Amino acid sequence: MAVPERQILVCINERDPSASRPSCRNEGSKKLKDELKDLVKDAGLKGRVRVLETSCMDQCEHAAVCVVYPDNVWYSFVKAKDAEEIVQEHLLNNRPVEHLLHDNPANLAHAERRAEKRN
Ligand code: FES
Repeated sequence: MAVPERQILVCINERDPSASRPSCRNEGSKKLKDELKDLVKDAGLKGRVRVLETSCMDQCEHAAVCVVYPDNVWYSFVKAKDAEEIVQEHLLNNRPVEHLLHDNPANLAHAERRAEKRN
């Protein structure tokens, strides 16, 4: 069997909601992973793209987080409703989804505000 061209790692780590850091599962990452899996299959990418669950990737203030390898493209604040755009734009058209990028200034600012609130 051929190795996949890409993997999408979705953090499904869960913390107590009162914990000092947020967690991806509490931000809907399990639903995101399920949606990505379904859409990858529907797009005919099964076998070429694997959707995998991971534990914490230490980007918790950006939860929910997923990363596409080998592209090394990190996405922040991802919801299940964003899965279609990731599959369509990134996986099928090779255009990372700008507004979800980890380094998008709006996402960096949002993560910083989130971290400040918890301190
Ligand atoms: S809980 Fe998801 S990156 Fe830490």
